[in-house]
Amino acid sequence: MSTSLRINGKSHQVDLPDDVPLLWVLRDDIGLTGTKYGCGVAACGACTVHINGVAVRSCQTTLGDVDGDITTIEGLGAPDSLALIQQAWVDHQVAQCGYCQSGQIMQAASLLASNHSPTDADIDEAMRGNLCRCGTYPRIRAAVHSAALKLKEV
Ligand code: FES
Ligand code: FES
Repeated sequence: MSTSLRINGKSHQVDLPDDVPLLWVLRDDIGLTGTKYGCGVAACGACTVHINGVAVRSCQTTLGDVDGDITTIEGLGAPDSLALIQQAWVDHQVAQCGYCQSGQIMQAASLLASNHSPTDADIDEAMRGNLCRCGTYPRIRAAVHSAALKLKEV
C-alpha cells in the first residue's frame, strides 16, 4: 500500500504495509540511519523522532499511525548549521559511544519546545525514558540548560 510521508521537509512515497514500524521505514526504506534501534519495545528511547514536533518512539509507531510531519535527527539541523540543541551537545561533549544520542537530542528538543526554562527535575522527568548505558546524564542536563539559555537570547 502506498503512503505519503513528509520527512524533514521533503515528501516521500513508501510502498509498505500499515503495520510496519516507522523506525524501519526511516532506516531501511528512506535511508535515514541517524535514528537508532535499541530495544524495539519503547523502553530505551534510541528511536525517538518527532511527529508534529512531539517526541515519539518510532519503534512503536506504525506507518499507519503517522499523522503529520516527521522530523529525524537529520532534519533538526545540518553539519554547517546545527540546531541550538545540537550545538549545546557539542559544546558540552555529551556523547560517549553516541548510540543513544540522537534519541536523547530529539527528546530534549521536544522538551525545550514546550518548556523554555526546565529545571533539573523537569529534565530528568522528560528524559527518563531515554536510557544511556554510558551514563551521560549529567552532561545531558548541562547541555539542555545551556540550550535553554541560548534560546532566550534568540
Ligand atoms: S528502540 Fe524504540 S524505545 Fe528502544
Ligand atoms: S552515549 Fe553510549 S549509550 Fe549513551
